[in-house]
Amino acid sequence: MSTSSPGLQAEQNGSKSDHKDLIPEGSHLTGSDPDHERVVPNDPLARLTVKVTDRNEASEGVVALTLADPDGRPLPGWTPGAHIDVHVDDERVRQYSLCSIDQDQERWRIGVLHEPAGRGGSQAIHNTVQVGTHLTVSHPRNNFVLIPSKRYIFIAGGIGVTPIVSMIGQAERAGADWSLVYGGRSRNTMAFMDELSAYGDRVRFVPEDTDGRVDFGEYLRDVQDETLIFCCGPEPLLNAVEKSSSHWPDGSLHTERFVPKKVDASEDVEFDVEFVDSGLTLRVPADKSILEIAESAGVPVLSSCGEGTCGTCETSVLAGTPDHRDSILTDSEKERGDTMFICVSRSLGGCPLKLML
Ligand code: FES
Repeated sequence: MSTSSPGLQAEQNGSKSDHKDLIPEGSHLTGSDPDHERVVPNDPLARLTVKVTDRNEASEGVVALTLADPDGRPLPGWTPGAHIDVHVDDERVRQYSLCSIDQDQERWRIGVLHEPAGRGGSQAIHNTVQVGTHLTVSHPRNNFVLIPSKRYIFIAGGIGVTPIVSMIGQAERAGADWSLVYGGRSRNTMAFMDELSAYGDRVRFVPEDTDGRVDFGEYLRDVQDETLIFCCGPEPLLNAVEKSSSHWPDGSLHTERFVPKKVDASEDVEFDVEFVDSGLTLRVPADKSILEIAESAGVPVLSSCGEGTCGTCETSVLAGTPDHRDSILTDSEKERGDTMFICVSRSLGGCPLKLML
């Protein structure tokens, strides 16, 4: 659903139960597998206005923005791995991970990479957002929940370090053992290095121009007991880590993608979908998404990225078998088939689907 938004506004005057304890008030968990729950606000349509209280260069090309409630009230709670939607303008919505070591409710921080070849969202933020700017944002959503563990291996590439920064704070508070491998093009493009340097040899910086690329085959060769791997970064890094950890126990690796996985749509077929709450059954043609059909029929549905990466359009499946094409669900979540992202996912084999919409 495209929602009208004021976007950027210049200021006129200047153990699993442990896991559940971390869920912010006013939010809920999705899914039935406690290892793979996602945290979403009870009202995913809710928007709020925040004020930029600090802006600094976290590295060459990355600006760090600190956000707070304009009236000084606490912001909604969040958990490490969470992101917010930032409404750049009426058309453009971008997702940014919250990246503070402290799980602060007074202020949030995001890191925005300037992507000159992107679609203009990051450029608009870099060019127009200053201290005092008001932004319209969503409540935090978390598709990348840090599952409690004795030990973590964190792997970050480039701007993918942003959710990992928050996770390190949580791992420290929980007394977990952890290490981070953080790669980037060169040291001057790697954000938040000062903060991360404080953790000494737990953190290994790997600037590609001087140190080359990490050999993940070697790095992840030995399976470590009671250890989870959390990884965020560009596609080649994610692919290398997925391949290099394929011999680890199921559920060891958790990733977050900024860009969608490539999908072959050449053999897509039409299928019927029943929107149970709306009492409608509609046909989804081969060249349209379920989201497009729902929106054109006036079915209330929320969406943002439209490419299966942000998690906003998550919908419960009551019957049928989804053909999952998102970049969010783990293999076991896909297999369970009780939820899907309707901006990209379809029906397997063209069978009818029944959705809670
Ligand atoms: S709108 Fe982002 S996952 Fe569907």
